[in-house]
Amino acid sequence: MRIRDLWTISRFRLTLLYGAIFAAGVVLLVGLIYWQTAGYMGRQMDQVIRVEAGALTAVRAEALPRRVRQEIERDARHINLFGLFSADGIWIVGNVRSLPHDLKIDGVPHELRATDGYPSGAHALAHRLPWGEILVVGRDATQLGEIRRIILHALLWSGALIVGLGLLLGAGLSLRPLQHVTAIRDASQKVMRGDLAARLPAAPAGDELDLLARVVNSMLDEIQRLVGEVKSASDSLAHDLRTPLTRVRALLHGAAQAGAPEPQRALLEQAIQETDVLLGRFRALLRVSEIESRERMAGFRPVELGRILRQIEELYGPVAAERGLDFHMVRGAKAVVLADAELLFEALSNLVDNAMKFTPPGGRVDVGLGRTNQGARIEIVDNGPGVPAGERSAVLQRFYRGARNQAEPGSGIGLSIVAAIVGLHGFTLDLEDAHPGLKVSLNCWSQWSAGQDRVDLV
Ligand SMILES: Nc1ncnc2c1ncn2[C@@H]1O[C@H](COP(=O)(O)OP(=O)(O)OP(=O)(O)O)[C@@H](O)[C@H]1O
Ligand SMILES: [Mg+2]
Repeated sequence: MRIRDLWTISRFRLTLLYGAIFAAGVVLLVGLIYWQTAGYMGRQMDQVIRVEAGALTAVRAEALPRRVRQEIERDARHINLFGLFSADGIWIVGNVRSLPHDLKIDGVPHELRATDGYPSGAHALAHRLPWGEILVVGRDATQLGEIRRIILHALLWSGALIVGLGLLLGAGLSLRPLQHVTAIRDASQKVMRGDLAARLPAAPAGDELDLLARVVNSMLDEIQRLVGEVKSASDSLAHDLRTPLTRVRALLHGAAQAGAPEPQRALLEQAIQETDVLLGRFRALLRVSEIESRERMAGFRPVELGRILRQIEELYGPVAAERGLDFHMVRGAKAVVLADAELLFEALSNLVDNAMKFTPPGGRVDVGLGRTNQGARIEIVDNGPGVPAGERSAVLQRFYRGARNQAEPGSGIGLSIVAAIVGLHGFTLDLEDAHPGLKVSLNCWSQWSAGQDRVDLV
């Protein structure tokens, strides 16, 4: 679980937002309390200073220094400041030795900015006595500073606690939605890969995610039903048309055999050929549907890829020789995968058939079995015309034939059979440029079970 993943969960963001608002509220409240308390204490302090100064100004000039000394002695906590200065600012008596230079001599208490020997934040008043001397009375504000320190600490601690608790709470609350989102993403990927039977996880009495998942699931039910209907309609069309077509073929054949004159006979032979092409296409269409509707893993056995490749070599070696192609096969690695051997053979035959069909005589076709970290890979490389990058996904569709290869026989269904077989196994197929020619890689490891299907790679 990473913060980045958690951040995608709105509940986590909301918890953090509430935490931030709460923390701001706490700062505001404590700040207000501090401000009010400090104001009140300041006013109290000034009142005390005024009263002290009032009492001292009432004392006679010759008795004042002694009285000041007495006041200082009486102040056991050492929080009062007294100073008596001559008219030109020379110290006479008191526990402050110099006149604060920014203090106005107006008999009103002020907070001292520059400290020069005074405790910081102290409040003091300076008063000119009738005989010219200056009396300074003040009070230490350490207490206020203490309160400020306590409040600041309280703020820091409560802030850290709120943020920490908010993160924990947010993570705790987001854990389930995060797992749910991950499960939904995995299920959606299955659907995107074409498994229309997959459904999103949805608890019967769950939260808004469950509700959404249920809606999407009903949508998927409907989509699956419609796709099934369309598929079965096209399948039954192909299936139903096969019988009358076969009959037409038989009739044409009968007519050709019945001793028709030569020009008609040639036409009848041509019609039979076209009917054969049509029948071939229907057969191929039904084959793709049949492979696609097969249950995954049904009939899967450990298959040695080298053995299948040997059969391919036996089958296509003579074809290559006939077409004047240089055909090589390298079965270096020994690999066993869980697959349907017949289907795999069919897919590889289609790929090698294409390579031999589209590569002009004198060209070269290489088939190799190699291995990667994930599993076995079969590569079929030719140096023919290749498939342009823009057409590489289109050629996997039914009936798609490259515009440049229309002259070659075929109906454009071979690669869709390969794609259906590859999809059934969970393997992948890559078409790349072989400079010149086409390189087709069949990656024989399942994309779904992360190599679980792989039996052995020796
Ligand atoms: N090795 C290749 N080199 C060049 N083009 C290719 C190659 N393999 C496939 N193609 C292109 O992809 C198209 C589709 O191939 P696919 O095997 O589906 O059909 P096809 O070979 O034309 O007919 P079918 O396989 O049904 O007899 C081909 O028509 C061709 O244009
Ligand atoms: Mg083909």
